[in-house]
Amino acid sequence: MSYRLSEDLEMLRRTVAKMAEDRVAPRAAEIDEQDAYPWDLKELFAEQGLLGAGVPEEYGGTGIGLPAVCLIVEEIARVSASASLIVAAQELGLMPILVGGSEEQKRKYLPALASGEQICAFGLTEPNAGSDAGSVKTRAVRQGDVYILNGQKCFITNGGIADVYTIFASTDPGKGLKGLSAFIVEKDYPGFSAGKKEKKMGIRGSQTTELILDNCPVPAANLLGKEGDGFKIAMMTLDRTRPVIGAQAVGIAQGALDYAVNYAQERVQFGKPIASFQGIQFMLADMVTRIEAARQLVYKAAFFIEEAAHGGASPAEISRFSSMAKLFASDVAMQVTVDAVQVLGGYGYMREYPLERMMRDAKITQIYEGTNQIQRLVIARTLLD
Ligand code: CAA
Repeated sequence: MSYRLSEDLEMLRRTVAKMAEDRVAPRAAEIDEQDAYPWDLKELFAEQGLLGAGVPEEYGGTGIGLPAVCLIVEEIARVSASASLIVAAQELGLMPILVGGSEEQKRKYLPALASGEQICAFGLTEPNAGSDAGSVKTRAVRQGDVYILNGQKCFITNGGIADVYTIFASTDPGKGLKGLSAFIVEKDYPGFSAGKKEKKMGIRGSQTTELILDNCPVPAANLLGKEGDGFKIAMMTLDRTRPVIGAQAVGIAQGALDYAVNYAQERVQFGKPIASFQGIQFMLADMVTRIEAARQLVYKAAFFIEEAAHGGASPAEISRFSSMAKLFASDVAMQVTVDAVQVLGGYGYMREYPLERMMRDAKITQIYEGTNQIQRLVIARTLLD
């Protein structure tokens, strides 16, 4: 068993790190300030083939897999969490098609998503179905060769800018979460629109909106799997994407640590760089230790899940590693960014410096793709079943 990344993955890490430093870092503060989706970076990532890393070659991706998606997201998040979300949200949006789609659906939709020609989104959350994802109220009623969808989604990453959405709706409310089904909805279908755009604490520049389905006809051919498969498809999707949020959290934390280390060596107080004081050294030591532990767990989860695709692992083990990675890494990102702000003192609190942005961005990693309370619940259940 090797603890090293392969040469190919190391090369990918170096290439993405350089691109992030040269092309993304100079835009990071501006994206946050203006809160406008960075189309230029989406194009850049598409050109570099970064949006199709999780998609097999037969569907137009590069097929390099989940560990590669994590590396890409980590390296971009080091300089801009919002920019890294372009890659992470694409992976989340296309995953239901990968895990639940027919051959025909995969061939129809995945190539344009893998190339980045089209953007996608994951439409699960509703005002009354957040952690309790099974209580989705959006309704889908079959009428001949279409389903008519009615309902409202909220907090949807890429809402209003995506071309393709997976929408979770109930085809049989009497069956609760076993009555949920998943549909591919294209942005131009009649009755489908984006509602309010949210103003957020962090990940500004990533667009988050409501979605409205008002008598929206969706071809029956766009049902993923069978009626009633929706909840399982949603959970299998999140099992495979939560490590990516873990990687995003590791990237944010590493970016904050790098900045704090440089600052501590330059900032002079009491006649010495503050890095020479043990109070600061101990903080930096704890930060780097936590980040490395989080990174190991994230890549352990990513490799485990990738290998599980070839059999061997139980669904419970997949859920456990996925949730542990996101839980631990996001808590580390929050701790580390708060401490990095502290190392900078008053400067850390100022918007001229990047650390308050990193701290605001870190917070969402403890919340989206399932709050960390839900991750703990998932982990505990895998032990107790
Ligand atoms: N894989 C496959 N099947 C699964 C599964 C998994 N990981 N987890 C559960 N299931 C199945 C179960 O086996 C069960 O089926 P059976 O009865 O046939 O065995 C069924 O689904 C119901 O499972 P539970 O009884 O565990 O359901 P629950 O309601 O008690 O709990 C939950 C489920 C884990 C709490 C789940 O609702 C959950 O993960 N909630 C969080 C939702 C979430 O992460 N939302 C994020 C939205 S996306 C986002 O944030 C991104 C963005 O764009 C902002």
